Amino acid sequence: MASSPPLVPLSAPQQAKNWITKPLEFLDRSFREYGDVFTLNLGALGETVFFCHPDAVAAIFKLHGDLFECHQFNVSYRDLMGDNALFLQNGEAHRRLRRIMTPPFHRERVQKYSDSILRLTQEAIGDWRRGKVINVRRFCHELALAILMEIVFGDNPAPGKQIQDWFRAEVFKETEGWKPWFGYGKLQPQIRDLITQEIRRRLDSGDLGQTDLLNWLHLSTDEKGQPLTPTELQDQLLTLMITAVDPIAMSLAWALFWIQKLPEVQRRVQTEIDGLGGALNPEKINALPYLGAVCQETLRLHPILPTVSGRRLTEEREILGYTLPAGTTVAACAYLVHRRPELYPDPLAFKPERFLERDYSPYEYFPFGGGNRQCLGAALAPLELKLILATVLSQHRLSLVEPTLPETVRYGTLVAPAANFRLLVLQ
Ligand code: HEM
Repeated sequence: MASSPPLVPLSAPQQAKNWITKPLEFLDRSFREYGDVFTLNLGALGETVFFCHPDAVAAIFKLHGDLFECHQFNVSYRDLMGDNALFLQNGEAHRRLRRIMTPPFHRERVQKYSDSILRLTQEAIGDWRRGKVINVRRFCHELALAILMEIVFGDNPAPGKQIQDWFRAEVFKETEGWKPWFGYGKLQPQIRDLITQEIRRRLDSGDLGQTDLLNWLHLSTDEKGQPLTPTELQDQLLTLMITAVDPIAMSLAWALFWIQKLPEVQRRVQTEIDGLGGALNPEKINALPYLGAVCQETLRLHPILPTVSGRRLTEEREILGYTLPAGTTVAACAYLVHRRPELYPDPLAFKPERFLERDYSPYEYFPFGGGNRQCLGAALAPLELKLILATVLSQHRLSLVEPTLPETVRYGTLVAPAANFRLLVLQ
């Protein structure tokens, strides 16, 4: 049995700098030099053991929720989401919030958001005319936020519109690194006030019969019959304003790039969408095999988080032949597993058909993470991507302004296509 995973021998500040400025190159280089397991020292996140083999991913995702903690790894989100955010909880506190937050995002339940997604996409592209240049990241961001706002505030659009205005002014700028998230952090007090006012308005007007997410969170109770406190409720909505917006926006941007970049991909997607005969039926769109494969391939090649949340072990465990003491942080590295050539031949090429030719296990392909921390939006996100793409491509022909692959840049804890990525509307 090996003693401990190899530690990348750069100084801690150098590693932290690499992780922040060039995370993907740093992971590629570490994988080339050390293979399936290596330890990086990620500054404030401490030492983290990266696993890039499906057997290790299986071991990590099968860990019981009492055997690890995510707080330390996710704590950089605290200023954005608040102390009570689902993302920062461990053990029973995490299970309690998951029980309350999961039902509105069940596979069957998310279908009811389809009409909103189609309509909001139509509205977002309403002013697209031949010759218009689209700032893709901004377009995707604004649309993803508009969709979330309708899911949260339902029939009363006012608070959602206000939040969208604030995001346009403070967050959705063409900046990179951590700057957009500082803007978001600044908005927190205003957003909290707005949520409080909207709940008060609903209580005063008896308007609590709505079926939107705000009411769901306001009326839900835990197994002891306790509702969420006002701050807990706000923290969960602030969590979604990051987790349900940026990843959708970035993935959508990458999908739009590859569809325009590769004529054969474009032809096959377009054939499927044209085959719908102009009727945007959500069930039919959701069942289109090639469009689905395009979304899967996008999430394979461009995971928005280079690694799922790091899990700090609370007990000694053995993973891939290494005995890891309590206190070790382990991370399943989606970025590197998704590029293993024995799983994904020609791994750097965008080939949606690979998802039509074989099935992948949840430890070989995991854009939404796994186990008890799996992404809450794992059913909503693919539906949202497919409905948006089908709506856009059913109405417009587009082309790339620059044919080259946009640079992948840091965007908070995520990685994203560079902000200067643009599309041209041909018709
Ligand atoms: C393409 C879009 C998306 C991608 C690629 C994505 C990816 C991820 C990943 C990798 C994680 C970490 C999972 C882990 O540690 O095992 C995560 C967590 C999470 N995601 Fe998503 N996500 C997306 C969209 C969404 C949406 C639409 C929502 C809204 C419901 C959402 C809500 C969350 C939440 C709340 C968590 C924290 C879960 C927890 O810690 O229990 N995500 N997501």
